[in-house]
Amino acid sequence: MEELEASNTVTSGSSTFSEDMCLTVEQKLIRLIIPPLTFVAHKGQAGRIGIIGGSREYTGAPYFAGISALKTGADLCHVFCTSSAASVIKSYSPELIVHPVLDSCNDGTEFGALISKLHALVIGPGLGREENTFSIMHQVVEKAKELQMPIVFDADSLFYINSHPELVEGYKKAVLTPNVVEFSRLYKAVIGADLGVLEDLNMPVQALSQKLGNVTIVCKGIDDIISDGDILTMCKEKGSPRRCGGQGDLLSGSLGTMLHWAHMAHDQSELVNFSNWRPNIIAAVGACMLTRRCNYLAFQKYSRSMTTTDMIVEIQLAFTSLFS
Ligand SMILES: *[C@@H]1O[C@H](CO)[C@@H](O)[C@H](O)[C@H]1NC(C)=O
Ligand SMILES: *[C@@H]1O[C@H](CO)[C@@H](O)[C@H](O)[C@H]1NC(C)=O
Repeated sequence: MEELEASNTVTSGSSTFSEDMCLTVEQKLIRLIIPPLTFVAHKGQAGRIGIIGGSREYTGAPYFAGISALKTGADLCHVFCTSSAASVIKSYSPELIVHPVLDSCNDGTEFGALISKLHALVIGPGLGREENTFSIMHQVVEKAKELQMPIVFDADSLFYINSHPELVEGYKKAVLTPNVVEFSRLYKAVIGADLGVLEDLNMPVQALSQKLGNVTIVCKGIDDIISDGDILTMCKEKGSPRRCGGQGDLLSGSLGTMLHWAHMAHDQSELVNFSNWRPNIIAAVGACMLTRRCNYLAFQKYSRSMTTTDMIVEIQLAFTSLFS
């Protein structure tokens, strides 16, 4: 446990691989939100997750996010992408349901209807930065907010938020997952000051979260820093020195699934008795731990050759070793 000067709770998402008996509070809470595997549950209960992203240039990111949502335990995953990306993404995986709607529908109404049966959205992987795409995305986010869906904002959607922070402001089920570069751009855009070269991003992460009306921020870095404006926590789970493109998509996809679980479990009595029980925080710590352990496990096998595909194969072992 590392001492932080946060105003509130200080916790740590680290765990020792060989000492799985010593669970952190977060790990206990994560275990409690995981839906039990039973024969009576019907298809969809463990999560219908929507990924909004995928454009002509970028087809890998939405695939990684979608398959990670499924391998974490969601039942169904829908990918909403441009028509130029759809057949490519379909050809990667028969497990994903792919809708080429990001450029073909010019108002968000039809698209809004498509998302109404989903439990959580992940917006941004491979989205691109076309004005038209952003406009459709904006309308769909408004619809998802009406439906009170948990939403992960990653990658290109964060670029849009730089100039349209009102899209997420005050929405308590929003979780933003910037890397350090994306974080400093967002900080400058919203707070209006340069971050400079800081060793410690804890306070800036908390400040940005508050400024955005206490949305949850997961700043990915050497340690992942997580805040909902009130609680500030870190994930220090052991990973590896290898960072490969696509790792962030594994995080955002698994986070989509865990956010659904956490919000579904929200009122469980075993959970509300934990004073620091916050669904966004627990889901975020869970997804960060999972991603880092996948990185660790894949690195043991492939070292420098490790890619995101190798990490995705490890989701099952990472999940069981951490949470069951
Ligand atoms: C955000 O959280 C801080 C710390 O708990 C609190 O003081 C503030 O009122 C909250 N703001 C909103 C908009 O909920
Ligand atoms: C939670 O706390 C309430 C009030 O103290 C108690 O009655 C209840 O048994 C607790 N639930 C669990 C699962 O510990």
